[in-house]
Amino acid sequence: MNEEREISKGPIPIDKEVSWDKTQTIMSKTDLYGTIEYANEVFVDVCGYEDYELMAKPHNIIRHPDMPKIIFKVLWDNIQKGNQFHGIVKNLAKSGRYYWVITNFEYSRDESGNIVNYIARRKAVPQDVITKYIEPLYKKLSQIEEVSGINASEKYLIGFLEEQRLSYVDYITKLMVENEKVQQIQQVPQAVIVGEIEDEDEESRGFFGRFFGR
Ligand SMILES: Cc1cc2nc3c(=O)[nH]c(=O)nc-3n(C[C@H](O)[C@H](O)[C@H](O)COP(=O)(O)O)c2cc1C
Repeated sequence: MNEEREISKGPIPIDKEVSWDKTQTIMSKTDLYGTIEYANEVFVDVCGYEDYELMAKPHNIIRHPDMPKIIFKVLWDNIQKGNQFHGIVKNLAKSGRYYWVITNFEYSRDESGNIVNYIARRKAVPQDVITKYIEPLYKKLSQIEEVSGINASEKYLIGFLEEQRLSYVDYITKLMVENEKVQQIQQVPQAVIVGEIEDEDEESRGFFGRFFGR
């Protein structure tokens, strides 16, 4: 009874991060409506729900109230078209704690090429990307939504991305690639990195292929 209430209304968020093994990949598979059909063990461990609590539930079971609606609109607009999509999402665990992930989508299709399932793989996001770029942007989008609704936050997001001359996915890719370069510069002796990094002109597919090990 209690548990049912907790799932339908969602746990009360607390400002603490889930502690999890950030080398792992969280995976889930849904139908076309985002209803969960499969969740891997990492998913179960990180979100804190048992698999029997997740199966046949809408994926918004882990939706965090800090997430602006417009980001999910961009997500669905892209995945319904079968586009290559990467989004950064703050999720809500059963404990009320949060965890940030970056997603990679795959599509399973029938013989006619129609999408029949969505498969999402997620990895942890570097803290700097969240703190410096994503959190401030999402906070602004949520504030706009609260006051003026999703049409206004969509316009703001479009303006923000136009200023960068990037799509949402390209912006996310740029943040990840730049962060990786900074990490390499901090970790590798100067003499080695000069040649390697300056030559590197990575495209979204290349970066995420490596990032998700595919
Ligand atoms: C394969 C797949 C994975 C998804 N993963 C997440 C996720 O990790 N977190 C999340 O909040 N929404 C995720 N969504 C989007 C949700 O279905 C939903 O749109 C979102 O939580 C917003 O809830 P709402 O549509 O009820 O506003 C995913 C959707 C699909 C199809």
